[in-house]
Amino acid sequence: MTLINENYANLQSSYLFANIARKVAEFQKSHPDADIIRLGIGDVTRPLAPAVIEAMHKAVDEMGHEETFRGYGPEQGYEFLRQAVVDHDYKPLGINIDIDEVFISDGAKSDVGNIQELFSADNIIAITDPVYPVYLDSNVMGGRSGKFKGDRFENIVYLPTNAENNFSPEFPDRRVDIVYLCCPNNPTGTVLSRKRLKEWVDWCKANETVLMFDSAYEAFISSEDTVHSIYEIEGAREVAIEFRSFSKTAGFTGTRCAYTAVPKELTVNTADGQKQALNPMWNRRQCTKFNGVPYIIQRAAEAVYSEDGHRQTREAIAYYKENARIIREGLTAIGLTVFGGVDAPYIWLKVPAGMTSWDFFDLLLEKVNIVSTPGAGFGPCGEGYLRLTSFGSRENTLRAIERIKTLKF
Ligand code: MLT
Repeated sequence: MTLINENYANLQSSYLFANIARKVAEFQKSHPDADIIRLGIGDVTRPLAPAVIEAMHKAVDEMGHEETFRGYGPEQGYEFLRQAVVDHDYKPLGINIDIDEVFISDGAKSDVGNIQELFSADNIIAITDPVYPVYLDSNVMGGRSGKFKGDRFENIVYLPTNAENNFSPEFPDRRVDIVYLCCPNNPTGTVLSRKRLKEWVDWCKANETVLMFDSAYEAFISSEDTVHSIYEIEGAREVAIEFRSFSKTAGFTGTRCAYTAVPKELTVNTADGQKQALNPMWNRRQCTKFNGVPYIIQRAAEAVYSEDGHRQTREAIAYYKENARIIREGLTAIGLTVFGGVDAPYIWLKVPAGMTSWDFFDLLLEKVNIVSTPGAGFGPCGEGYLRLTSFGSRENTLRAIERIKTLKF
């Protein structure tokens, strides 16, 4: 008899964004004329930078000639891209990362989900609440959650992150094995201060806790008082794995390229008390289960670091940041309380009094045909909030705000 992985039975409903897509598709079917504006999932809308397209064309041509054709690439990524990451994302920050600590992949989502394979199913996980659902769901699949009771999993440590604590969670009230932090944060759009991140690194060191640091949105940072990489913090190499992505930095959501840094100093324990480095384990995992990102895509990602590529991709970020300003100021002007949107493409707003976040989601969809993401979908402490993204077109962003202004709360 073939048995299933029973852990899947613990997952709650379907993946958040799949759930919302289904709801929106049903609404569109019953309202075929509705002019829907999508500010829900954080998916980019600006085209790829010309320098990126040019590099892709060139790489496509190379693949068409015997002398320059490439088959399987290195599972860890081509050296040209890993070196570009080291030189442009780390060296300017004064961070020494070796190229064999950088692993190129097809997405931060995949890496964040896959990394949990390296850890015992008995490990205790802490997540912020609200949280990017992949951290939680991948650990549910891995058997670390226990049962869902009331509105939480019994074995997961939730760290409330809300306006009351200025979106800076307290440390767990007990030792945990792994903690996930996302900065700039998805979904709240807020950042943790440099000082607080230093305290987190120190806490992780003191507690022998691995820090999973997701900085997929670092390109949106304008504030001085946070970090672009966790390795700017002294001691982080001993505790932190960092996830970075070209998705939001360079519009690669459909092109797929990201990387994960696993420093060699980072060790965890074997059952018999030996220290085991995670870097060779991740390398082993990738070599076994992954054949690398296509050459064409890695050349495209490399072009993001060229002079033209950098300037062009920064222009797209500036465009989205201006959308975020329009949303923030537009919503504030009609009396809504908003957070985030300064160092991140997400605006996190308090829903009008007396409504749940799904009520407000339905109201926006049905009355003004705007797709958003209900805060409750990111965890129990997301209740009472709603997320809008600044990744829409300028025209749609302006139209969305005008439409929301017509609503009476
Ligand atoms: C989001 O909307 O939270 C993100 O687009 C999801 C992702 O990056 O996977």
